[in-house]
Amino acid sequence: MRTPLVAGNWKMNGSRASVKELINGVVAGAKSLSGVDIAVCPSTIHLADVTAIAAGSNVAVGSQDACTELKGAFTGETSIEMIKDMGCQYAIIGHSERRTLYGESDDIVAKKFAVVKAAGVTPIFCIGETLEEREANITEDVCARQIDAVFAAQGDDAFAGSVIAYEPVWAIGTGKTASPEQAQAVHAFIRQHIAKHNADIAENTQILYGGSMNPANAKDLMGQADIDGGLIGGASLKADDFLAVCQAGL
Ligand code: 13P
Repeated sequence: MRTPLVAGNWKMNGSRASVKELINGVVAGAKSLSGVDIAVCPSTIHLADVTAIAAGSNVAVGSQDACTELKGAFTGETSIEMIKDMGCQYAIIGHSERRTLYGESDDIVAKKFAVVKAAGVTPIFCIGETLEEREANITEDVCARQIDAVFAAQGDDAFAGSVIAYEPVWAIGTGKTASPEQAQAVHAFIRQHIAKHNADIAENTQILYGGSMNPANAKDLMGQADIDGGLIGGASLKADDFLAVCQAGL
């Protein structure tokens, strides 16, 4: 059985004060939740505050990205070693906002995936189609292409110890959620695609749904056979809403 994972992607939001309040609220509410893995991914500049407060709790912390390189002259970047040293267990890689707004190709994302795994941090590898791609009926092709870049670089066991997040781009921040059936169909496809390389890894990999998931729709989405949790944007910025989504994963 796969334990569900609910991860909050706080994106570029919050002040030191508001972020401390948020993580304190999440840590306090999460104490009574067992049977669900919980993580939050604040902005890099807030990682020190958040990991200090989350230390010793059942709330893990992740970064929202990591550099392809480990150290050196890469102004503005943060290496996975720095992220790990800060106490992070996860790193989101290949979020659609990184892919579209910052030009991250499948190959760059695959390289990031490799450095994160090599550091012993769990990648939360994001994939998903745009609205145009869905309407052109190439959702599966797009997801397969994004996944195959990692297989090409890392071999058949690439996804061991990693998390995949299916985030249809048209559902992110739009209030338009994929229906549970639509999401389940893609999740099942993703699992089958990974199973072609390694059936055990496919069976054990948490595949999260992301895109306007909230307390109202979380249970139906996470009730699907291949949906093992969520990557939550907007609804993760309020402790009560985020905890309600975590609760729905139980
Ligand atoms: P929303 O939940 O705000 O749609 O964002 C989803 C997302 O991008 C999580 O990574």
